[in-house]
Amino acid sequence: MSKAPITVAVTGAAGQIGYSLLFRIASGALFGADQPVNLRLIERNDEKAMKGLTGVCMELDDCAFPLLNSVHPTCDIDDGFTGVNWALLVGSVPRGPGMERKDLLSINGKIFTGQGQAIEKNAASDVRVLVVGNPCNTNCLIAMNSAKSIPTDRWFAMTRLDENRAKSQLAAKAGVHSTAVTNMTIWGNHSATQYPDFFNAKINGKPATDSISDTEWLQGPFISTVQKRGAAIIEARGLSSAASAANAACDTVYSLTRPTPASDWTSVAVCSDGSYGIEKGLMFSFPIRTDGSKWEIVQDVPVNEFSQAKIKATEDELKEERAAVTELGLI
Ligand code: NAD
Ligand code: LMR
Repeated sequence: MSKAPITVAVTGAAGQIGYSLLFRIASGALFGADQPVNLRLIERNDEKAMKGLTGVCMELDDCAFPLLNSVHPTCDIDDGFTGVNWALLVGSVPRGPGMERKDLLSINGKIFTGQGQAIEKNAASDVRVLVVGNPCNTNCLIAMNSAKSIPTDRWFAMTRLDENRAKSQLAAKAGVHSTAVTNMTIWGNHSATQYPDFFNAKINGKPATDSISDTEWLQGPFISTVQKRGAAIIEARGLSSAASAANAACDTVYSLTRPTPASDWTSVAVCSDGSYGIEKGLMFSFPIRTDGSKWEIVQDVPVNEFSQAKIKATEDELKEERAAVTELGLI
């Protein structure tokens, strides 16, 4: 191994998403085929969870991954976040049938104050944090506000699963491969108010609306299918999405650590700087471009009246979530 390892913490490592995600990280899917990794795996201080994590570690051993330099299981968050370059915050309770993600605010929100503090105290100076555990935008807001010395541009909440879902829906409707769909923005919250922006999406480099003339479908079933896909999977599987969520987490880190291809962008929730009139400080999903280390919100994406109303609805929901966690004393 010639390169110094990248150290990655994963919380909820014995959970469903963890079970897909860890093996992808260890195989090189995030940082490349020549980049060794250290895994620091964090679980609840609970006998069953830690026993499960022991089993996962045994399976990681059994893969003999060439890039896996070390695996450190722990239920101590200070220990778990020590020296980490990336913290993937997955651990939290998933919603069950009939629940909205915001129903999880009081259950999961408090996890993220302690984790934010532990990251601030123990992580490497270049740490970057991706929150997957729901409600991920507001959990990220809580963690970021609990770690004020870490610059706000290091905090991300995952909307890549929504981006991938939207691309897949558009590709199926247009009869093309999903790779033909680019410039797919998810605006706002990872929730049923998110806005998958078909107006600015492209298919084979041209407006998606050139290939898909069914405006009624785009404005109705397309948007609601993407918004409600998480619930549809919970309904079908009896469990929340896991392999596709882990895949999206890999895609997110991959995209944030490499230059964005020319004339494309990706979606991830970041701390709003007021772009597009979104209230500063909210964790809001925008179109993002990066050179692999510094990222920027893509400016001047056209927002028409239809899009503006959708964007406002998801911003309003994030403001409500922020008010709720402020009332709970979490920020
Ligand atoms: P899961 O219940 O299978 O696993 C969660 C794991 O987290 C469990 O092993 C649990 O012991 C652990 N955990 C709970 N609290 C913890 C804590 N304080 N510290 C460390 N570990 C803790 O759930 P899952 O299916 O893996 O989903 C995890 C989260 O990801 C859920 O909140 C789910 O809603 C969310 N999710 C987000 C997206 C997204 O696109 N952002 C997609 C799918 C799922
Ligand atoms: C998803 O989008 O699949 C996850 O966020 C799970 C959920 O709660 O919907």
